[in-house]
Amino acid sequence: MTGGIAAYKSVHLARLLGEAGAEVQTVLTAAATRFVGADTFSGLTGFPAHVSLWEQPGEVLHVRMAHEADMAIVAPATANIIAKLAHGIADDLLTATLLEARCPILIAPAMHTGMWEHPATRGNVSILASRDVRFVGPESGSLAHGDEGVGRLAEPEAIFAAATELAGGRRDLEGRRILITAGPTHEPIDPVRFLGNRSSGKMGVALATEAAARGADVIFVLGPGTVSPPPGVQTVNVTTAQEMRDAVLETFPEADAVIMAAAVADFRPKKVTPGKIKKEDGMPELILEPTPDILSELGRTRTRQLLVGFAAETTGVEEAGREKLRRKGLDLVVANLVGQGGTGFGSDTNEAAILSADGEDEPLRPWTKRDLAQAVLDRVAALFEIR
Ligand code: PMT
Repeated sequence: MTGGIAAYKSVHLARLLGEAGAEVQTVLTAAATRFVGADTFSGLTGFPAHVSLWEQPGEVLHVRMAHEADMAIVAPATANIIAKLAHGIADDLLTATLLEARCPILIAPAMHTGMWEHPATRGNVSILASRDVRFVGPESGSLAHGDEGVGRLAEPEAIFAAATELAGGRRDLEGRRILITAGPTHEPIDPVRFLGNRSSGKMGVALATEAAARGADVIFVLGPGTVSPPPGVQTVNVTTAQEMRDAVLETFPEADAVIMAAAVADFRPKKVTPGKIKKEDGMPELILEPTPDILSELGRTRTRQLLVGFAAETTGVEEAGREKLRRKGLDLVVANLVGQGGTGFGSDTNEAAILSADGEDEPLRPWTKRDLAQAVLDRVAALFEIR
């Protein structure tokens, strides 16, 4: 880890790696410790986090760490560390360890746009890429000091997915095109108001990240939630149920599977008032009409595609999920409990059952959204195999 404001994201990355069973050993440059504490990583990983070449008398720390590592991830990586690695400079524990290491190296750059686009950095990145050093990101978005542009550290989930791929993780979805929807839809009432729901898009991002890491060609149709799409994944941004339907229908013929994690509005105002509805005009009457049911339409028109739906329920989760599986003509339904803390909308965890048309059900239980995404994609990969 090097010194950058994005260093806080590495705390989450270390947690993701640890949860996946990796033994995570942390090296921070002196500059990195100005942004995050070494103790945070010692506590989180269970291994002492290191900063100095000289902290373990009698041990050649950089050589031991370099030889023990199966992979090195530099996140965040400043322009400075990229330059040093490209030119073999080893003047602290991190650079000495990386120069000694022969394991795969993954770099997640984070810096201001000018530094990233500078010919010196471009040249250094090319040198490292020619030595098979892998890069993930940077992304475009908000940077330090309120600036905007390319240079933002990739999200921890994306770095994790790249690390999984580099570690030779499963590529069982290679060559499959998977259409994934996520987030809410907003149905306009007038130019300033809409009907919406509490979906953040996190469940869909977990699915898209995992599917892409396993080699799928992912098309991600994202409603106006609070999440950013996974970097590198082809994304179509939509607002309303009608727009989501149109985006899904356009790519449906080429898709091998569709996973509808989006919380699509069931109703929309029949009439959108062209100007802002004024309080002085009295209480407005809102007449609603149904939106297109995208999944039912896919269920009726599909040829070879696998169809996975989600069912958001506050009671009778499994029964209602099973009913939607039958009615919408689906292969799988993830029936999840909503309306409580720690599950469903906006949370990182979900209480869900996986219900299958072939009767192979997974009963209702708590999951992290990442684990749930993995389990759903395991089912999808298995269904591809038997078709
Ligand atoms: O986004 P998060 O904050 O991570 O939250 C995740 C989630 C709770 C939104 C997600 O896990 C979830 O449950 N998504 C489906 C919510 C929903 O719309 O449930 P439903 O029971 O109303 O719909 C059943 C299925 O039909 C869904 O796959 C839905 O995408 C689809 N549908 C619904 C209405 C509609 N007009 N068209 C559809 O295709």
